Order: sequence, then C-alpha cells, then structure tokens
Amino acid sequence: MFRTNRSVVGLDLGSSFYKAVELTRDKGDVILTGFARLEVTPETNRREAIGEVFRRGRFRTKRVVAAVSGKSVIERYVLMPKMSSEELKRSLTYELDKHLPLPPEDTQVDWQVLGDVPAAAEGAPPQMRVVIVGAKRSLVADLAANLVECGLTPVAIDVDVFALGNAFALASTLAPPAPEEERGVALVDVGASKTCIHIVAGGSSQFAREVPIGGNDFTAAISRRLAVPEDVAETLKREPGDRAGEVRDAVGSVLDELTNEVNLSIDYFEHQSEGTLDTIYLTGGSALASFLPENLERTLERSARMWNPLEGLQVKADGLDVEDLQAAGPSLAVALGLAARETGRIPERVA
Ligand SMILES: Nc1ncnc2c1ncn2[C@@H]1O[C@H](COP(=O)(O)OP(=O)(O)OP(=O)(O)O)[C@@H](O)[C@H]1O
Ligand SMILES: [Mg+2]
Repeated sequence: MFRTNRSVVGLDLGSSFYKAVELTRDKGDVILTGFARLEVTPETNRREAIGEVFRRGRFRTKRVVAAVSGKSVIERYVLMPKMSSEELKRSLTYELDKHLPLPPEDTQVDWQVLGDVPAAAEGAPPQMRVVIVGAKRSLVADLAANLVECGLTPVAIDVDVFALGNAFALASTLAPPAPEEERGVALVDVGASKTCIHIVAGGSSQFAREVPIGGNDFTAAISRRLAVPEDVAETLKREPGDRAGEVRDAVGSVLDELTNEVNLSIDYFEHQSEGTLDTIYLTGGSALASFLPENLERTLERSARMWNPLEGLQVKADGLDVEDLQAAGPSLAVALGLAARETGRIPERVA
C-alpha cells in the first residue's frame, strides 16, 4: 500500500463546483488515486461541503493544497538583477511595495525565479526573470484555518492561475510537449465566475492573470436576451438543441469580451518575447460550450481546443468510474495543478 504522506489532495473550491484530485507518489510515478466533485451554491455551508467532497473521494490522506483567487491576489512578472536567493528574499521582504500595489504588512508574498535573461547590452549586469505573487494575508490565513476546522492538514495555499500552469507542467513530465506547445500555449480556464489565463512557453511561466468573466455571465446574457429564468438559461447554455443560433447570439458580447481578454494576454506575451503563440487550451466547466473554441479560433486565428490535463496520467483508485473521471478531466485542471505542486515533479515557488 502507498504511504499516505506520499499523497496529497488538490482541493479547488470553485464558485460553482468543489473539485478534488488526489495524487500519490509511487517510486518515480505520480498516480491519480481519487477524485470527487460537488456542485455548490452561495448558500452552501463550506465546511459541510468539503466534508462531503472527502467522503465522496474516499481519499487516503488529509494533506491538502487549496488556493485563493480574486482581486486580493496580484501577480507580477519582473526583471531583476541576478542575485542569490538570500538577496532576493531580502529585497522582496523590504521592497515589496516597489513590485506589488498591496500593503506589505497585510500581504503574504511568494515568488519563483523563472530563469536568466541575456544581458541587454555588452557589459550590462545579468538579469533574471522572477514572478512575484502577493495575496491578502487574511485571505490565506482564513482559508488555511477553514481547512484545519474541517480536520484537514493544509500543506500549501496556492493561487488558481498558478495551479493551472502547474497542471500543464505536470502533463509535460508525462509526455514531452509538442513543438507548438514549446513555442507557447495559452491555458484558459473558464469557470463560473472567472477565467484564468496562463501563458507557458519553453517550459516556463510567461504571464498569468485572472479575468472576472465566466459561465455565469453567459447564463445571465441568455436569460436576459431570451427572457427566460436563470435555470432555463443554464440548461439552454449546456444543451441548446435547435435554439443554438439564438443562444450563440445571446452570448455574443460576453464572448467577445472574453476573447478580447485572451487576445490582449497573447499580444502581451508575443510582444515581450518576440515569439508567436498559436495554441489555446481550454479548461474549466465553461470550456464545454462549443461557442467558446469556435469564437476564439475565428477571431484570433489560432487553434483553440479543450484540453484534458489527465491525459497520460496513471489512475489507480478502487471503485472510481474512469469514464466519469475522464469526462470531468477538463474541469479538474486547477485541482490537479494544486496537487501537482506537491509531487516533487515540478519546480516549487519559494514561500
Ligand atoms: N456543457 C456545458 N456548456 C457550457 N457551460 C457549462 C457546461 N457544463 C458546465 N458549464 C458551466 O461551467 C461552469 C462551472 O465550471 P467550473 O467547475 O470550472 O467552475 P468553478 O471552478 O466552480 O468556477 P470559478 O473558477 O469561476 O470559481 C458553470 O458556469 C457551468 O454553467
Ligand atoms: Mg474554477
């Protein structure tokens, strides 16, 4: 049997579904040993729902990684003079306000050195690229306390948009990235309340941000335009049948807004790196809407398709419905990425 301290549950507390994936390290392998999903509403009691997720998943461990997101979480990619990790820590501790527009005394900070950058001119000091993440301290502390109250052992609190990148990093250890993926992939996780965009190229994080547009906005637009209640709009969104044209028209402006945000992120990356990116991988529950990849492909003239981050991952879990798991795959990217961080397979940020 596996030792439980080799297992960890990635717990994605989404606004419409809680999702959990358990990963277990077995010798050199990473194995998915459990998964669960539970629909939630704003009225749901978080503690009870987390308990239910753990019951459904029948996980072997209580070690858990969860994430914060939203406006109180800010990420910045910066160039800094090359320095030791001690110097970097000092610099970020004492000069945090130079990098993040957050009050240092109320900010939990985390960073990762992404790599060296060739000197801009001969004789210029060498530089390195660093991603710095700040989150409101109370947001992180409250989540960790919540998890402890649920009888769990939080081993890390991450950020949704970075978990998305980590899901891709884990997948890249299972199968070498295709040449177009090496050049650049825009990972786009469209949830209910938000969209996480993470651009990865050459095995390294390039740019990450969160946009407050998601499936709820599609549903609200359908409800307004077709004058139907929200629950009917939700059903129409998922299964439009012969009303597909009307649904597509109704979501048009939200879709354009979201497409524009993806475009801005890709533009930014291409401008910074002088590279080109032609691959968009969609995850999250809203990636199931066929109008999403269609609009991205047509407007951005890049390939856009749904991505299943579980592809190639070994699964060993008693009583687990593998078909159910694979169907849920695209919506499990964040949960998987949260657990992936603890597998020792991908570089960790320094706390
Ligand atoms: N077949 C479908 N077609 C379109 N949208 C769908 C479909 N199935 C689910 N959705 C939408 O997916 C969303 C839920 O996805 P997901 O579980 O990724 O969200 P979440 O993680 O809970 O949200 P967030 O990350 O914004 O907090 C809902 O808005 C739901 O309406
Ligand atoms: Mg989500």
